[in-house]
Amino acid sequence: MAAELAMQGVSLRFGGIEVLQEVSFTVEPGQIFGLVGPNGAGKTSLFNCISGHYKPTAGTVSIDGTPVQGARPATLARHGLARTFQQPALQLQETVLENVLLGAHTQLPGGPLEWAVRTRRTKRAEERFRVEALDLLERNGLAWAAHLPADELSHGLHKGVELCRALLMKPRLLLLDEPAAGLPHAEVEHLIAAVRRLRAEDDITVVIVEHNMGLIAALTDRVVVLDHGRKLMEGTAAEAQSDPRVIEAYIGKDAADDVA
Ligand SMILES: Nc1ncnc2c1ncn2[C@@H]1O[C@H](COP(=O)(O)OP(=O)(O)O)[C@@H](O)[C@H]1O
Ligand SMILES: [Mg+2]
Repeated sequence: MAAELAMQGVSLRFGGIEVLQEVSFTVEPGQIFGLVGPNGAGKTSLFNCISGHYKPTAGTVSIDGTPVQGARPATLARHGLARTFQQPALQLQETVLENVLLGAHTQLPGGPLEWAVRTRRTKRAEERFRVEALDLLERNGLAWAAHLPADELSHGLHKGVELCRALLMKPRLLLLDEPAAGLPHAEVEHLIAAVRRLRAEDDITVVIVEHNMGLIAALTDRVVVLDHGRKLMEGTAAEAQSDPRVIEAYIGKDAADDVA
């Protein structure tokens, strides 16, 4: 079941810096939701508040109505949350396949003792994950790279590896932080197709941070625009693109006056 995500009055402060100020919005189950805004607007910080990497100073983050702000990332994974990072941190010496499998061990049946002695049940589950990981790589156009060390791939392709890693967890809520940054145009098309397939085949809610407005317009049902840690507007991608406040936030007040 796809998850509902609700932010209610989420604020985040570091020392004197107000990174997020009373941000509220709801992502309905099954939606593909865009989070856009200029660099430094607070998009990654907001993701960190959802994924348990930051604890909001105030406000609530709820998944299916359960408050989860301040919970640890591992706990949130059990709620069905998976994410990718703006700066992927792969194990560069390990193969792409091993990188996709990282984290899967926490999903094996039994507990650490059983994993350590590697019962037949552990081995069967590991084999299932390998097959699924290879299938995900195939579906994301990365099968050719499965057995290469990760450091032989471009930065852009590392994002695809991270996406496969996140999908292996069968998330109900997936957060993607700038998945298209650094990707050549053809790969962006691949990514759009992959997210569309996700929506068609899986019961999943997706939130995407992205500067590529083509991707946002092609994929999202709804967007929230953040600027200086505040919610500037919420609506469709088309509404955001024609909103003078958004144009102003992106290219400065003078340019917005020129448009008006
Ligand atoms: N751990 C932190 N400590 C201090 N400031 C932070 C921290 N994380 C983020 N910030 C600040 O929060 C602001 C928003 O950053 P970020 O969330 O990365 O924006 P975006 O992803 O929209 O570009 C920036 O001014 C950044 O310096
Ligand atoms: Mg960011």
